[in-house]
Amino acid sequence: MFKIGRVSLLRLMRIAAFVTLGPACVLFVFIILNKMDINDGLSAIFVLYIFFLVFLYPSIDNTLALNNYVKALAQNKHIKPPELGFINTVEELTDSLNTLRYSWDEKQVQLQNAVAENKIIVEILPDALIMLDNDLNIIRSNSSARHLFGHRLGERNFEEVFSNIPNLTRAVRQVAEGLQEGIDLEFSSKGTLNRDIRAQIKRYMSTSKDGGGILVSMHDLTELKQMRRMRADFVANASHEIKTPLASILGFIETLQGPAKGDIQAHEKFLAIMEQQGNRMKRLINDLLSLSRIEASTTVPTDVVDLAAILAEAKRNNQWMADEKNIDILYTEIKEEIPIIADRPQITQVFNNLIENAIKYSDKKSQIFVTLKRTKEILPELKGRAEEAIIVSVKDLGKGIDKNHLPRLTERFYRTDDARQSTTGGSGLGLSIVKHILNRHHGKLDITSELGEGSTFSVYLPIAIVD
Ligand SMILES: Nc1ncnc2c1ncn2[C@@H]1O[C@H](COP(=O)(O)OP(=O)(O)O)[C@@H](O)[C@H]1O
Ligand SMILES: [Mg+2]
Repeated sequence: MFKIGRVSLLRLMRIAAFVTLGPACVLFVFIILNKMDINDGLSAIFVLYIFFLVFLYPSIDNTLALNNYVKALAQNKHIKPPELGFINTVEELTDSLNTLRYSWDEKQVQLQNAVAENKIIVEILPDALIMLDNDLNIIRSNSSARHLFGHRLGERNFEEVFSNIPNLTRAVRQVAEGLQEGIDLEFSSKGTLNRDIRAQIKRYMSTSKDGGGILVSMHDLTELKQMRRMRADFVANASHEIKTPLASILGFIETLQGPAKGDIQAHEKFLAIMEQQGNRMKRLINDLLSLSRIEASTTVPTDVVDLAAILAEAKRNNQWMADEKNIDILYTEIKEEIPIIADRPQITQVFNNLIENAIKYSDKKSQIFVTLKRTKEILPELKGRAEEAIIVSVKDLGKGIDKNHLPRLTERFYRTDDARQSTTGGSGLGLSIVKHILNRHHGKLDITSELGEGSTFSVYLPIAIVD
């Protein structure tokens, strides 16, 4: 089709013809009424037509340019605004359109930012969030949800994913069917997941075409419940451990007041046992206090102390006990200092406890070896903080520990069955104190043992960098 610039000729002619139609009709009336000569009339109509062709061309051209521009804006294309010279109002219109366009752009950026921010907030929430449509298809989930329930949550049906938790799927269905606005429930998922979870199910409304959906948020209660259980166990265990010697002391008091009142020999014997039980209670309470103090300490140790001196002190502390059983503590004497960053009384307590155990769980006339080894092997979490570490091993030739017990030895109050029955009178707190202290010092404890051959408790500690 033939075009002049943007304007098709045919279209221009049609519009000019349309505009000329009015005056042409008037002229025809004049011609019919013989008020005008037919030739003059037709010439006038022709002149008018040409005039309109010429006059209308720029305004149609400008309007088309503006039209194209608005179309481009609507399609979000960024093009240069057209130069419209002909009609002033069209220029003003272009200005307004431009302003509109900039404010749209700004709104769009704001909207995009808000969406991105919301996405991040939802994504990093510690609780698992899952959004469902009305057919219970998962339309969105955050990273906690994917972490808990697997990475392929999207596009799947909620009831299918959670088919092994019927309480949850039933509740979600009830909310979806409008039987309830929202439901809170707690459930334990068994199997691989094995977690205690509190879920909140709510219906939400939106202006989207399906009018909203269901939001399921889930809070992991596993750790909390575990802690509550541990605290309850702890109180029960501690009370039990205190009750046993106390019951024995009270029993002897009763005997001394009653049947054995005048019996001097019985007095001496019973008082000795009472003293022993009293000391056991004292040790237990001291251990409990140490443990709670260590657990409560939030600061990291800062003093540089000499490990060689600490080991010598721990050996001295236990010497009397070793002598009683005729046990030799063979300690590889170290000439140089071994600097560690430590709370000195606490690290002394670590080696006191380990040497004491070695003596306690060895037969008479045995030997205990305390050896040291420097190593360049640095635990991953200590990279950059230390260049070398020291491993102190306390090895005994005692009865050894069954493999089943090894992973649980550092739990509070944990004792092997024979230790429980023996009269060594331990609290079962010694190794858990050791573990807590070592945690505070970026160290660790390794235990190896062979039944009938003995056990080795190895303490790993980073060596301080001193200049
Ligand atoms: N050197 C060792 N040889 C054999 N068993 C040990 C040794 N050290 C610890 N155990 C076992 O580990 C348990 C926990 O030790 P610990 O926490 O020090 O408590 P306890 O107060 O009983 O000594 C002990 O009851 C004992 O069964
Ligand atoms: Mg002990």
